[in-house]
Amino acid sequence: MEQAGTDRVRGLVVAIDGPSGSGKSTVSRRVAAELGLAYLDTGAMYRAATWWCLRRGVALTDTGAVAAAVRDMPLVMVTDPAGPRVVCDGEDITDATRASALSAVVSQVATNLEVRAELCRLQRAEIEAEATGAPGSRSAGRGIVAEGRDITTVVAPDADVRILLIADERARLARRARELHGTADAATIEATRDEVVRRDADDSTVSRFMTAADGVTTVDTSAFGVEETFAAVLAVVRGASTRPAARGER
Ligand code: DC
Repeated sequence: MEQAGTDRVRGLVVAIDGPSGSGKSTVSRRVAAELGLAYLDTGAMYRAATWWCLRRGVALTDTGAVAAAVRDMPLVMVTDPAGPRVVCDGEDITDATRASALSAVVSQVATNLEVRAELCRLQRAEIEAEATGAPGSRSAGRGIVAEGRDITTVVAPDADVRILLIADERARLARRARELHGTADAATIEATRDEVVRRDADDSTVSRFMTAADGVTTVDTSAFGVEETFAAVLAVVRGASTRPAARGER
C-alpha cells in the first residue's frame, strides 16, 4: 500500500476531463459507485456559481463583482455518486443548474480567472478531504472521482489516475441532443450545436481539454456506448493504480 506523509494510507484520486458530450459525467459516476468513491462534478460548481450570480443580480460581464460573489457563495456539493446534488444557500439547485438558459451563459463565469482560482481551491479541498478521510467525507477516505475540464492539468495534476475522454464531434453532438431532447435527428443536433461546439471553443480559451497532457491516458469513446466507456475507464483505473480502492477492496 502507498503511504502518504507519515503513516496514513491515502485514498484513490481519479481525475477525468474531456469536452462536452465525451461522456465524462456518466462514466465518472459509474466508476465512483463501483469503487465506493465520492464523485465530484466540477462543471456543476461553475454552473452553481453562475446561478448564484444571477440570483444576486450580479452582471456576468462585471468580472470583479462575479469573483467577489463567488468567494461568498455558500455552496455545498453532495458527492454521492448515486445522487449527486448541488445545494446553494440551503436550496437544492441541481435541476436549476442544468437549465439551457444557464448553459448558454456559464462560459462567461467559467472563463473568469478569479472564479477559476476560487473554485480550484474549493475543488482541491474537496479532493483532499476524500483522499484523507477528513471528518464528514463521503468515502471515509477511500477516495474520489473528480471530473471537469481542467482536473487532470490544473486542479489535480498529481491524481493517481488521470484520464482524458474524447469523442468525435458527431458523437458528442448526438449524445447531448439525446440527453436534452430525447432524440438525435438533424434538427435536435443543430439545436445542440451551441451548447457543445461554441461552449467548448469558449472554454478552451482558459483550459486545455482536447489533447492529453503528459501522464494522462486518452480514452476515445466515439464508438462506445455507456457500458463500453465504463469498462474502458475502469480498466485504466485498475491498471494504473495499486491502491486498494482501485482493486475494489473495501
Ligand atoms: O461540464 P459542464 O457542461 O457541466 O460544465 C459547465 C461549464 O463549466 C462549462 O462551460 C465548462 C466549465 N468548466 C470548466 O471551465 N472547468 C471545469 N473544471 C468544469 C467545467
